[in-house]
Amino acid sequence: MTERILSGIRATGRLHFGNFLGAVRNFVKFQTPGNTCLYFVADLHTLTTLENPAQLRDNLIEMVKDYIAAGLDPEQSIIYAQSSVPEISELSLLLGMLQPLGQLQLIPTFKEMVRKHPNNVNLGLITYPVLMAADILGPRATLVPVGEDQVPNVELARNLAERFNNRFGDDMFVVPKMMDQMIKVPGLDGSKMGKSEADNAIDINANAEQIRARYTKGVTDSKKVRANDSGEPYRCLSVYPVHKLVSSGNGCVGVEALAKIEAGCRSGFLSCVACKDILARNIAQLLGPFQEKRAALASKDDYVRDVLNDGGKRARTAIQETVGLVRERMGIIVY
Ligand code: TRP
Repeated sequence: MTERILSGIRATGRLHFGNFLGAVRNFVKFQTPGNTCLYFVADLHTLTTLENPAQLRDNLIEMVKDYIAAGLDPEQSIIYAQSSVPEISELSLLLGMLQPLGQLQLIPTFKEMVRKHPNNVNLGLITYPVLMAADILGPRATLVPVGEDQVPNVELARNLAERFNNRFGDDMFVVPKMMDQMIKVPGLDGSKMGKSEADNAIDINANAEQIRARYTKGVTDSKKVRANDSGEPYRCLSVYPVHKLVSSGNGCVGVEALAKIEAGCRSGFLSCVACKDILARNIAQLLGPFQEKRAALASKDDYVRDVLNDGGKRARTAIQETVGLVRERMGIIVY
């Protein structure tokens, strides 16, 4: 089955280990013959919490270097900046005409922003999922891999596609699927890695020693107090769940097998300090090839701009046709 896979990440900073493991590593897996992959940096979405324009410009370039170093291949995937395709913004406006406001006010990420930043509830925040729907529906994506927190947004895009199709012709939009299983990568405090306020992320350019030092903050099983207390891996908030992702030996590295880590934790033989040390080494090993490629790209801004230019053109071609049809079906003629 060939798919059109699409996903994006906001340009709020450099990629962290959670993005790498939970998102980008999956993006890479979809790059197989027959699939069309569209991966972008959601720079317009970043403006909902705009702080510093120069930083946004830098983040965008640096993130694309991270994408490429992680294995996204500009020959195989369309890599672009959301803002390079102005038709996305146009489509967002058109789709907005079919979107009840009440539903947008119920979106969890919106409610969270209102709670946290009551003085910056701009229009962009409320229409955020509609712009996301335009990202997805414009190029007729069939599959949208996202983290759990984005599920309500993709659900809304699916609803919008169906609403449009019912009203204006059911051949217009593809109703995209989500992945059955989403990878959740906890940060050092046990909540999702990368929440900007939380300072709970692991830097993808860190070495084993730096990662180990970071994990001293990592929250484990609260009942394993002394080194040789018996622990329960499934109560461990930040270390064991990541072991499960990187130390299983199943397509992962695994300096130590997961089963040994589990048994060692339960028997008390393995201290949290030693367990974190194994994790740090496994993460460092997993990141090694990425870091090597990333270092080689460090000074290649011009190359990245070329990638974005080329990707932008290809994405535009993919989206322009849809937007032309949407306009027409809604009664808008370009004179
Ligand atoms: N909202 C997503 C996030 O914060 C980023 C995003 C924007 C996205 N548009 C998208 C993800 C379209 C998937 C598809 O992570």
